[in-house]
Amino acid sequence: MKLFIDTANVEHIREMADLGIIAGVTTNPTLIAKEGRDFNEVIKEITSIVDGPISGEVISLEAEGMVKEGIEIAKIHKNMIVKIPMTEQGIKATRQLTALGIRTNVTLVFSVNQALLAATAGATYVSPFVGRLEDTLHDGIQVVSEIRDVFDIYGFDTEIISASIRTVKQLADSALVGAHVATVPYPILKKAFTHPLTDKGIEAFMNDWENTFGKK
Ligand code: G3P
Repeated sequence: MKLFIDTANVEHIREMADLGIIAGVTTNPTLIAKEGRDFNEVIKEITSIVDGPISGEVISLEAEGMVKEGIEIAKIHKNMIVKIPMTEQGIKATRQLTALGIRTNVTLVFSVNQALLAATAGATYVSPFVGRLEDTLHDGIQVVSEIRDVFDIYGFDTEIISASIRTVKQLADSALVGAHVATVPYPILKKAFTHPLTDKGIEAFMNDWENTFGKK
């Protein structure tokens, strides 16, 4: 499973990219607005940090506007993926952008049927929102797992991005059920590195070393 970072914060992207673990970036209008910066400027900066798929989302609600915006987003950089909401108009736009050779990420997916429709329209990625499903007491990981089964049975090339990840358990479970990608917020990535036994183990190794050989 590849790891994307789910943020428009360039410091956080840079920090995780420096560690060599980031294969791509996803943004959405909320994340861009949080940074209070111009969309094109932030996206351009992100493309200079990470050499992998970068999702930028359209804000039009009609297919025509989505396609227009999508064409502009795709022009920013060869790594751009046009993120499109899972609606009838969004699916129409996905089909048209696919025909133009522009890659898409159909977002706000909450069911297997929505993922199937997006894949049928030629989406490069679908983004089921695990955290938001689990907020409403649904099993988000089960939805990811079922989408994976359907894509495998019918040989769809569409990749699943496990999105709206709120916990380290959701990250691990996404990997276990075969998400192709998990897009993870910065604090969850930071947490995923740690384990109390790792810290305890390092402390014991250092103490044993220093007790025998002294401080470095
Ligand atoms: O990638 C989708 C993600 O940004 C949504 O996350 O936490 O707003 O549900 P959240």
